[in-house]
Amino acid sequence: MLLLHLSDVNEASWAEAFAKALHPYPVVRRGDDFDPADVRYIFVWKPKPDAFDGLSGLEVILSLGAGVDALLKHPKLPDVPLVRFVDADLSQRMSDYVVAHVTMHHRLYTRFRADQKARRWEQFYPPSASESTVGIMGMGVLGKDAARRLRPLGFSLRSWSRTRKAVEGVECFAGADEFDAFLSGTDILVNLLPLTPETTGILSYETFGKLRHGVLQGGPAVINAARGGHQREADIVRALQDGTLGAASLDVFEVEPLPPSSPLWELENCYITPHIAAISDEKSGVRYFSRIIAEHRAGKPLINVVDRNRGY
Ligand code: NAP
Ligand code: GLV
Repeated sequence: MLLLHLSDVNEASWAEAFAKALHPYPVVRRGDDFDPADVRYIFVWKPKPDAFDGLSGLEVILSLGAGVDALLKHPKLPDVPLVRFVDADLSQRMSDYVVAHVTMHHRLYTRFRADQKARRWEQFYPPSASESTVGIMGMGVLGKDAARRLRPLGFSLRSWSRTRKAVEGVECFAGADEFDAFLSGTDILVNLLPLTPETTGILSYETFGKLRHGVLQGGPAVINAARGGHQREADIVRALQDGTLGAASLDVFEVEPLPPSSPLWELENCYITPHIAAISDEKSGVRYFSRIIAEHRAGKPLINVVDRNRGY
C-alpha cells in the first residue's frame, strides 16, 4: 500500500494520479480507512510529526522534493531507504531559473533599470559572456544540467563539488581546499548545493569577499536556488549595500515565507522569488515514483537513494 502525506501541495490530485498509475495497487491518504501496518511506501513532503507513526511494515520513503534536508531532521524518520526526486523536468525548470538570472546579472540589469528610472542615457558595455565566469556550487543533478544549458550561451564555467568531476567545458574544483581558488575566478556564483552541516551558512560575507571583482560592473552576483539555510541574510544585505556584491537573486530564505520585515525586500539589487525555482511536476513525479514502486515490488534495486551519512 502507498500512503500519501503531502503538505502545501494538492495531495488529492497526486493521490488520484497515483491510484490510476498503480492500479490495482492500493493508494491511501491520511484520514482514509486503512491499517498503518499495511503501508509499504510513504510519499512525503513536509511531513507532520506523527507522519510515520504505526507504519511498522514500511519499506521505502519517497520524497517529493529533490532536497531532503528537512526530512532528515524529522525526529521519527524510520530507518528505511529514502528515495529522492530526480527528474529531467525538475532539472529543466531549475535550469530555466538559473539561465534567466545568470543572463540578467551578466547584462547588468540592475544598472540599466536604474538608468531607465533616472531617464539617463549612458552607453556602457557589459563584458561578453565568454569574458564572464559563472561558478556553480554543487555539481550534482541540477548543477550539471545548469552547466550544460549555460555552455552554449558562451559563458566561461567553473564548478565546485565535494568530489572531483570531469565535465567538458567546465573547470572543476573540489573540496574545501579548492574553495577559495574556485571563488577567486567567479563573477556570478550559483548555489545548487544540498543543505548539510558542511554547507550551512556558506553564502556569507567572507565568501562574497573572495569572488572576482572588476569584471561585472557594480560587483559580482550571487544566485541561491538551493536552500535558505545556505545563506546568511544579514551578510547579503551588508554585501549588497557596500558593493561586495553587485546583485543577488534569492529563491530561498532562512525563514519562509520571507517576513515582511526583511530588509531584503527593499534592496533594488536583490531579486526575490518565493521558492518557485523548480517544482516537482505531478505528471512526471507520478511516472517516476510509480516506476520505482513497481521495480521495487519486482525485486529490483532502488535508485537515487539518499546517503544519510553524507546528508544528501
Ligand atoms: P545532488 O545531485 O545531490 O548534488 C549535490 C552536489 O553538491 C554534488 O555535486 C555534491 O558533491 C555537492 N556537495 C555536497 N556537499 C558538498 C560539500 N560539502 N562541498 C562541496 N560540494 C558538495 O543534488 P541536486 O539534485 O543537484 O539538488 C541540489 C539541491 O537543490 C537540493 O538539495 C535542494 O536543496 C535544491 N533544490 C531547490 C529547489 C528550489 O525550488 N529552490 C528545487 C529542487 C532542488 P559530490 O558530487 O562530490 O557528491
Ligand atoms: C524543492 O525545493 C526541492 O527540494 O525539490
